[in-house]
Amino acid sequence: MQNDWQLDKADILAWLQESDARKVQELLAMADHVRKDNVGDAVHLRGLLEISNYCVRECGYCGIHASNKHVQRYRMLEAEIIECAQKIANFGYGTVVMQAGEDYGIKAEWLANIIKIIKQETALAVTLSLGERTIDELILWQEAGADRYLLRFETTDLELYRAIHPARNDVEPTYGPDLHPRIEMLKDLRKIGYEIGSGVMIGVPGQTYNILANDILTFAALDLDMIGVGPYIAHGETNLAQNPRQIDQQEQVPNTEALTYKAIALIRLMCPMVNIPSTTALATINAASGRENGLMCGANIVMPNVTPRVYREKYEIYPGKAGIYDNAEQSRLRVQQSIESIGRVMGSGQGSRQKA
Ligand code: 5AD
Repeated sequence: MQNDWQLDKADILAWLQESDARKVQELLAMADHVRKDNVGDAVHLRGLLEISNYCVRECGYCGIHASNKHVQRYRMLEAEIIECAQKIANFGYGTVVMQAGEDYGIKAEWLANIIKIIKQETALAVTLSLGERTIDELILWQEAGADRYLLRFETTDLELYRAIHPARNDVEPTYGPDLHPRIEMLKDLRKIGYEIGSGVMIGVPGQTYNILANDILTFAALDLDMIGVGPYIAHGETNLAQNPRQIDQQEQVPNTEALTYKAIALIRLMCPMVNIPSTTALATINAASGRENGLMCGANIVMPNVTPRVYREKYEIYPGKAGIYDNAEQSRLRVQQSIESIGRVMGSGQGSRQKA
């Protein structure tokens, strides 16, 4: 149960840029070993429910940004959400993740009531992933029973963050001008009592190796409960796809599977007990084995999509998203098969981070 891998920034940079296939394979194998020793063979499942695709933001990478007129907007009804949560519980998944764009049509009281009902009627852990919301709302939802919050900080580099995630000019910022709003919010979430998850995309235009190494160091420093990384996938209807940030190609992290596996492995080595999902983005760029490969180099979580079929294709944060034409039962079967195909087992219970 020990991590002997005290990686400093120079080590992380060297690994991210390592091109010797044999050495990289050793890194991934070591991460798999550390995963097994620390969190075991169980793969915990989180049922992902995309409850709304309304969004006030204009993120340069994301297909459901506010001004994308080609997106048909939806917000699930209370009864639909609760029915899906019951389905998640019946499937034996331990957690419901309610995710949405930054949608202020999701009223705090409305959601608090839904959280209470889910907690009364099921044994699920409730995870929220709703972007930046006020402290009062976060407290209300935590008091209603929410257990966890996912908020990827996307990049530690403030200049890149502002470029790909423009500030809203219609509201006062919650945090000071020199602070990273999402990193500050993660600290607040922790204080309130949430388990916290974060992450970044691998290879977003403008992401240098130096920035990604800082991101990985920041994951460890924040003592996160869950860390999710997946490859950036360009969406044609976005600012970043239309006007990519040009940086020195030597410095730009490629948005490849190989880089994603290295990042997962480094995160596992640095944070041996953390929960790491093998992400849908990874399963999207390699439909045949991306999910399994992620689970074999450090990941221990999968987030099968449980969003009703009619809404799924409207939640197109990137194109070609894996499972978009499946229903919840088909997603479940696929996930079960991929877990069993690599000799792992489906986790039971909520699958919270185990403390060392
Ligand atoms: N490619 C890959 N991942 C994306 N996300 C958003 N847009 C994309 C994209 N084009 C990720 C972001 C966000 C999470 C919900 O999905 O990191 O936080």
